This record gives sequence, C-alpha cells and structure tokens, in this order.
Amino acid sequence: QQGQEFDYEVTAQEGSTEFFEGISTDTFGYNGDLLGPTLKLEQGESVDVKITNNLDEPTTFHWHGLEVPGEIDGGPHGEIQPGDSRIITLEADQPAATLWYHPHVHGSTAEQVFKGLSGMLLIDESSGSTSELPNEYGVDDIPLIFQDRLFDENKQLDYNRLMNPDGTLGDISIVNGTINPKLTVTQPVMRFRILNGANARNYTFRLSNGASFTQIASDGGLLDEPVETDALTLAASERAEILIDFSSMTDEESLAIINDEGVELLPFDVALDGAPAGSAQMWTADEPFVSEEERTMPVTKEIELFGMMEMVTINGKTFDPDRIDLRQQQGVTEVWEVYNEPDMMGGMIHPFHIHGTQFKIISRDGKEPAPNEQGFKDSVRVEPGERVKLLVTFPEKGVFVFHCHILEHEDNGMMGQIEVY
Ligand code: C2O
Ligand code: CU
Ligand code: CU
Repeated sequence: QQGQEFDYEVTAQEGSTEFFEGISTDTFGYNGDLLGPTLKLEQGESVDVKITNNLDEPTTFHWHGLEVPGEIDGGPHGEIQPGDSRIITLEADQPAATLWYHPHVHGSTAEQVFKGLSGMLLIDESSGSTSELPNEYGVDDIPLIFQDRLFDENKQLDYNRLMNPDGTLGDISIVNGTINPKLTVTQPVMRFRILNGANARNYTFRLSNGASFTQIASDGGLLDEPVETDALTLAASERAEILIDFSSMTDEESLAIINDEGVELLPFDVALDGAPAGSAQMWTADEPFVSEEERTMPVTKEIELFGMMEMVTINGKTFDPDRIDLRQQQGVTEVWEVYNEPDMMGGMIHPFHIHGTQFKIISRDGKEPAPNEQGFKDSVRVEPGERVKLLVTFPEKGVFVFHCHILEHEDNGMMGQIEVY
C-alpha cells in the first residue's frame, strides 16, 4: 500500500475456529481467527510494525527471543488497551533464528495463548550468506507449532486456570492450529522450525521409524555444530530447527513425527517432486561454544525456582510489577545460576526464560550441556534439584522479565524483573 508508514500490521482479534468439522469455538488470533502470520525479518533489517488490540481486554505483543529494548519488548508493562494501536520498530540485530511472538498480560497470558495468540518470528540469514540450508519458506522450510488443547463436551475450547494451576495439559494435539494434520513433503531434505507452543507440556519428538534426524539450531540460532539424534526434547517455549532426510523413502512407506507415547503428532505424505537431493552443508565447530574463560567466571546472580500450583516463587517472591529484583549493566556478561529447589512432593520441571537476551548454557550440575544445547538459548529446561549456569548478556536497556514458561506458573507470579542500565 502507498503511503503506509509501517511494514507489518499485527492485530489481536477475536475469531472462531472449526477444530472439529462443523463445530466452531471462540478463539483469538492475530490478523485472523487463530495463531498469526509468520513475520520474517532479514538479519540486520529493521521493520516498523503496527500493533493493534481489537480484543475487549488488554493485551501485549511480546517478541520472544528478539533482543529489543525493554520499552518495546511487550512484557507485562507493555499493555495495549482495547481499541488502541502503536507503531514500534523491531530490529533483527542478532543471528538468524526461529523466534515467536505472543501476549504477556500479567494474569491472562496463559488464557490468551491457549485461545490462539501465537505466531512465528523468523530472522533469515542475510542474503548472500553461504548457508546451503533449505530456506524456501513453505516448500522445504516449514514452521511447526506444536500445542495441546482441552475441549469440553460441546467441543468448545475449555480454559480454566484454577483447575490447572500447574499448566493446562490438553488431550488433543494440534500442529499449526490443526487437529489430525498431515503434511505433504515434496523435497528430499526438509527443514522444520519446531516451536513447543504449549502452555505447559514437555515434548519429546521422534520419528515413527526410529530413524535419526539432524538438529541444526536451538532457540537463538544455528548450533555450534549440527547434532544427529533420534529424539528431541523441548519444554514450553523452546525451539529447534531440524533437517529430515526423505530422499530414500518410497511412496508406500509411512513416516510421522511421534511423541514419547508413540502417538502420531504429524504424519507425512511423501511425494517427492524429483528434485535432486541438494546436500545441506554441515559445519564443525573450531572452538568450544563456551570458552574456558567464560566457563570459569564467578556466579553473580542466583535464581531459585520453587513450588507448584499457586505456590510458585522465584527467590522466595511472587511477581510485583513495581519491584525491580535484579540489575545488570547493558553489554556486560554475568553468570546466572538457576536452581530448581525440589519440594516435599519432589518438584517439577520449570522452563526458565529471560527476556531481552540470548544466553549460553555453561553447565548443568557442573557438567557440559548436551551438544544440542551448545547454541544460543532464551529458555532452558531446569529439572528438580538441578543447577544450571548461564552466561547472560543484555544488548539493550530497559526493564525485562524472567520467568517460568509454564504459562500458568507465570500468571501465578513465578516471574521477576531485571533492570538493564
Ligand atoms: Cu515467551 Cu515472557 O515469554
Ligand atoms: Cu519472552
Ligand atoms: Cu514453573
């Protein structure tokens, strides 16, 4: 459009979705009934985005994983009131990565995401990059948002935070908003950008034939070195990019992405269009992802995650929007030690997320993290009793939150604030 003073428009709105044939249920979406458009930025690019709230409740627009100033991060302080809009500038000043966006209103984040507010935000390798990775969006490069949903007896989305204080686990799996999805694969090597967009569920993904695949990226960009694996575990909000090689498959063979219980989450229909298998170019790391110097830096920030249900705290406190819990200087790297303190019941996994940064995992209980965690991260799974050390730098100033990404825990106050000065 001529004379338009923004590049993208993202509007949160009400809609209705037929998850089950012939039966609609109320949902939320960005620019549509459910989920949102994939926003694509090239590395180094900046875009003006008009954000509008057409819901009849406040919402925010949070760019999960994007290193933006606190002012436009869309955390709990970024509320847009019903009917209001704002134009913000997002700059992709970080490695190419698979990021996402979602609301972050304190107390209703979980419900708004559950109803459908989530979208992908991709930073593409800048043109002219030498990467040979599949990158034709929708052809050999496909985003997959895995979520689970709960429906009532009338097949209406059923959200109740009080009933599910440790996070809503649904018995119905949806991929990109669809029940019983099927994906037709036409290219021999496919790149999937996987988001665990569930409110709370941990997924372990495998292939139905037990074959291995290649993980090439974590939350914040390419891994130090690609990892060949037959299982991929992602906690809520974590992402991974994987390559699956279909080149040796015949039309009669079936293949699906399955979960830990062997349930098919995404079956593939393989119909290769005869294109030759381009060789995806792999790489090796020439130095450790975390240097010796980084690994031996002293811990300067301690985070204790504790509790279950409504009784969840970080460092013994629940979220207070008027309280700053930590301070860190812009551009200065510090070591955070995150400890998941078990309770009498044994405790549970908390996926710990920090806004405004892509961090490195230094260690888990003193040990080097798995190869697929040797890449930039913004969320990290912390098991009960585990101590995870992170190397954290904030490139931008402002107030940012850090929290458990089980969205009901976040709404229950398992969140703190850091001021970057
Ligand atoms: Cu996915 Cu506080 O964010
Ligand atoms: Cu975030
Ligand atoms: Cu939690």
